Amino acid sequence: MLNMTINVYHILHYTIMKIKTVENFNFENQTALVRVDFNVPVNKFQEIIDDTRIQYSIPTIQKILSEKGKIVLISHFGRPKGKPSKIFSLKFLANFLSKKLKINVSFFEDCIGETAIKKVRELKNSEILLLENLRFYKEEEEEDINFAYELSKLGDIYVNDAFGVVHRFHTSITLLPKFFENKKCIGFLMKKEIQYLNQFLYGKGKRPITILLGGAKISSKIKIIENLINLADFILIGGGMSFPFIKIKGGKIGNSIIEKDQIIEKTLKKIYSKYKNKINIIHLPYDVVIADSFKNESNTKIVPIHSIPNGWMGLDIGPISIKNFCKIIEKSKTILWNGPLGVFEFANFSLGTKSIARTIANVTERGAFSLVGGGDSIASLKMENCDKKISYLSTGGGAMLASLKNKILPGINAII
Ligand code: 3PG
Ligand code: MG
Repeated sequence: MLNMTINVYHILHYTIMKIKTVENFNFENQTALVRVDFNVPVNKFQEIIDDTRIQYSIPTIQKILSEKGKIVLISHFGRPKGKPSKIFSLKFLANFLSKKLKINVSFFEDCIGETAIKKVRELKNSEILLLENLRFYKEEEEEDINFAYELSKLGDIYVNDAFGVVHRFHTSITLLPKFFENKKCIGFLMKKEIQYLNQFLYGKGKRPITILLGGAKISSKIKIIENLINLADFILIGGGMSFPFIKIKGGKIGNSIIEKDQIIEKTLKKIYSKYKNKINIIHLPYDVVIADSFKNESNTKIVPIHSIPNGWMGLDIGPISIKNFCKIIEKSKTILWNGPLGVFEFANFSLGTKSIARTIANVTERGAFSLVGGGDSIASLKMENCDKKISYLSTGGGAMLASLKNKILPGINAII
């Protein structure tokens, strides 16, 4: 094994050994300031489409409540860019949480200030206060020490259970915990995420290990390929991510989506030359479903991926690719998946992603270990009704990818 892989292991292993969790504290008569990621997807009626993130944080909340602690919940929601607005308010969640927890969850329309502090002081043991969206202050995204100080007045113990945002250098993630000295820890959701990532990387060596990467943004995933090429037995690349590979090999990709970035080309070339003897573990789609416009009702054809005509774009992997990929997944014992294989939100281009989702669920039922992250991959599992069969659904897409890039995430570093 090369250094890269060992480093990832060391980081995760070290983290889980060293970091304090809610289990190390007794919350009786204490106010826990719990940073959660309640950035849940909602529809236009503000109904929650997927409450996984909330669901996974509930054990943390319940542990604190059962010990007669008080809870102040802080979170971001969407990207309001530093301005308060109704559509990004967290108010609607108070009701949802009350029903879910079967106790009253109160809400206050700010996250700092005298009145917020007063509301916190009025909390009785085993009560919960949800505060307004942190991102209504631009300072949240600017690592602002004064904003961190204001937030620090709201609790005695800081708990980070917001894995989805732990890769961001944001005030409530990196600076706020500094005010709590040794009274800071992670919650159960965070602990689980770290443990499952650990298990994926060193899950008692259950091989073959397959990594499946899709989605459009290759820049966020290319480093992972480099880091994990020595760990994986198969790396399957699909979706928009495959086109830079095809292009660099001299293929014609027509009008398919491609992230323009010189670093990508350079890194790809480096991977191809540095890992010559491992390169055959990277599998690209053989064929694609192409369309003459970016909509569900466009004309379609199936062609080899390296010969897409101008004016056409690849929107899903083709039948031969589905078969090839599923065959590899079926013989895998450990699988990590992030990113769709096509534009699955268009029904006509969803077959690839859905087939993969079903296959991963099936092999998991037969005993494989599967870890899936990223909103789109999880959404496709839900469409196929097989999300419950996956070993672990990560609540962070970007954060999960960042963890595999061989570095300690800023939010975890702030607790250690
Ligand atoms: C997410 O949904 O990706 C997390 O909540 C982080 O949000 P962000 O990508 O807007 O920082
Ligand atoms: Mg995001």
